[in-house]
Amino acid sequence: MDKLLITGGRRLSGEIAISGAKNAALPILCAGLLTAEPVALSNLPHLQDVSTMLRLLRQMGLQVEQQDDRCTLQGNAIDKLEAPYELVKTMRASILVLGPLLARFGEARVSLPGGCAIGSRPVEQHIKGLQAMGAEIKIEAGYIHAKAKRLKGARIVTDMITVTGTENLLMAATLADGETVLENAAREPEVTDLAKLLVAMGARIEGIGSDRLLIQGVAALHGAAHAIIADRIETGTFLCAVAAAGGDVTLQNTRSDILDAVLDKLREAGVILTSGSGWVRAQMASRPKAVSFRTTEYPGFPTDMQAQFMALNAIAAGTSRVTETIFENRFMHVQELNRLGAAIDIEGHTAIVHGVEQLVGAPVMATDLRASASLVIAGLAAQGETLIDRIYHLDRGYDRMEVKLSAVGADIKRVQ
Ligand code: EPU
Repeated sequence: MDKLLITGGRRLSGEIAISGAKNAALPILCAGLLTAEPVALSNLPHLQDVSTMLRLLRQMGLQVEQQDDRCTLQGNAIDKLEAPYELVKTMRASILVLGPLLARFGEARVSLPGGCAIGSRPVEQHIKGLQAMGAEIKIEAGYIHAKAKRLKGARIVTDMITVTGTENLLMAATLADGETVLENAAREPEVTDLAKLLVAMGARIEGIGSDRLLIQGVAALHGAAHAIIADRIETGTFLCAVAAAGGDVTLQNTRSDILDAVLDKLREAGVILTSGSGWVRAQMASRPKAVSFRTTEYPGFPTDMQAQFMALNAIAAGTSRVTETIFENRFMHVQELNRLGAAIDIEGHTAIVHGVEQLVGAPVMATDLRASASLVIAGLAAQGETLIDRIYHLDRGYDRMEVKLSAVGADIKRVQ
């Protein structure tokens, strides 16, 4: 199993190109199921989760042609309306095939995702929404069996804001009979990116970017071309790395306007940030200052940046409070950061981070995707060697992170 070996203490300097967003790519690939015509995508990131999603879609009969960061999907021969447990258990986002399959083919069989490292993560809102649209849904032997001759438009108010729930229902509603209103919709830029592709495919959607999406169902969608939005979480992760290790790095092929909450906190921490069309530059010459924050839905501080920012707070001057409000168990990185010398206590959903002058390298274990990224950031700032085990978590959602970091001067390598 691969590990990452990092020797900390190097300043970072240079440029990094940001990849397409994982959490936009996954629903967008599933949107390929909604039409028989070709959907051409560019800026597709090289990630394990993207490969897993393509494997699942190919199994269903979707044709996929892939070259570098481009791929073309064609769904004119879909013959298997099922997402098996073996794939869903490795990637919860597989649930995103449910809405498109049901809407276009009137049937779907999708394994229920189990719990995961960051929380229980049920999908009852996806199911409730599809039922409101007239689907008959049974849960049997761990699978969701859904049927509907044709989904009907409905007014759906989800109990909480759910990103993939909004995406699933949005995709389903594009082909439903009549008007669907999604209230309490997620406003994440990845939802907006999916909606833009759907509109290019002929969907009729109003309120894009707001918490109320209004969809007039159409009889069929057609092919389209779309460039996947930049990964704001990869961008934020590298900015935290520069803030922790020190240096001067410009991130290219990205957007600063979808990362305001994180940029504000980085400025508070003492990072000098400048940005322009398609780039963000971070300069850091001092020890970071401790910064408290709470995670919330977009446009608030993203839960997917909590662990990385905590690594920064771990070496900051002062004490900070980090409150996680989205997932109940997303502090698995705390114990590992403490193994590197951090001084973090957990009180319920809040981590109290007492900044220390210096972390010291040690062997640590990644527990989930963003926790892995926080250990990389801590390792870059620590004295000596940090060996991170179980980096398959990192490969799920970061496009060759060690290659990008080496290019700006980090001492980081993949070892067996
Ligand atoms: N929830 C329910 N019932 C539902 C749906 C959600 O109780 O039917 C709860 C969840 O358990 C959670 C909260 O609602 O407590 C929000 O969950 P949400 O559904 O928004 O999360 P998700 O759609 O499963 C996506 C991202 C996550 C990201 C969250 C929150 C994708 C593929 N995944 O997950 O990304 O953390 O939104 O922004 O888009 C990551 O990239 O590391 C990652 C975990």
